[in-house]
Amino acid sequence: MKRIAKILGKWYAQHKRDLPWRKTKSPYKIWLSEIILQQTRVNQGIKYYHRFIEKFPDVDTLAQASLEEVLKAWQGLGYYTRARNLHATANMITRRFDGRFPADYQTLLSLKGIGEYTAAAIASMAFDIPVALVDGNVFRVLSRLYAVKMPITSPAARKEIQRLAAKILDPVDPGNHNQAIMELGALVCLPKNPVCNECPLQLFCRAYQSGRIKEFPDKSVTTHNRKRYFHYLHIAWQGKVFLHQRRQKDIWNSLFEFPLIETPKAVRPERLIQQDQWKNLFNGSDAVILHVTPYYIHMLTHQTLYVRFYQLQVSIIPPKLADDFICTDKKSLYDYPVSRLTEKYLQTVINP
Ligand code: ADE
Ligand code: SF4
Repeated sequence: MKRIAKILGKWYAQHKRDLPWRKTKSPYKIWLSEIILQQTRVNQGIKYYHRFIEKFPDVDTLAQASLEEVLKAWQGLGYYTRARNLHATANMITRRFDGRFPADYQTLLSLKGIGEYTAAAIASMAFDIPVALVDGNVFRVLSRLYAVKMPITSPAARKEIQRLAAKILDPVDPGNHNQAIMELGALVCLPKNPVCNECPLQLFCRAYQSGRIKEFPDKSVTTHNRKRYFHYLHIAWQGKVFLHQRRQKDIWNSLFEFPLIETPKAVRPERLIQQDQWKNLFNGSDAVILHVTPYYIHMLTHQTLYVRFYQLQVSIIPPKLADDFICTDKKSLYDYPVSRLTEKYLQTVINP
């Protein structure tokens, strides 16, 4: 057997806390405990677990209960969506699965309120299916054990930890193995001051062996820098121009701007005019491109905007433009609050 799994298993057998959901193989009870523990700490979770099991001893009872009763039992835990999902999934299991939890990771994953973590917990603990589970504790332990220097928020880190968790998984007793790593994280490999001197994995731990425990897990934020391409259409028609007010939860909320086509990649003018967004706007009426500015580069905290302005002329107003945009005298343009970038364009290109 894998060495780390063996040592971990032995440690867990000796040190694990005596918790009610560890005495059962019932998928219903394991599911319930895991959902409760996503919302509160173990100490308080025990109370709620007993309350639920007493009121709703099995999945059918939970399904037949009214939503109000379930919400009432959940009271104090907060985030009531979890309670609603509990009720919905209990109903699903009663109706679609004959009251039996599906013994299959993918099917579990398809149920409301059951994500990767919960699906792995039920699959491994109730059905001995060898899937590795990753939660915050597991992430911390494994990032130290293998000195994984990837920011915790990055998808690549999550993937790497999942891979390592699968690698060291004990396929014979995956449920206890998964709980053992979580327990090590909860009792020994603590977030602030891990008790390495009592850790059964000290000899294998790369962070400990290289004296760099404090560096793991890597909490630095990934300044993921999204690139966005804005194509502003400065459309002239009989001395008028078209504007609209930004309303989305995004940058420049409530400022005014020209009709905008946003693309995820750089797009040249001859391609832009073939895009659906362009066609929807002009609907076949001809727009003559008089001038296109180079890209202005506008750096924000988590994104970089590449913005260019198209000066266009139309002979008739396309219906969509008339319906969805403010048509204003080109002189009144300066009365509207606009972004600094649009201001710069107006000051340098239109009215230098
Ligand atoms: N936290 C989440 N799941 C747990 C479990 N099964 N035992 C203890 N703590 C947990
Ligand atoms: Fe965590 Fe220390 Fe054990 Fe490494 S040696 S796994 S850092 S408790």
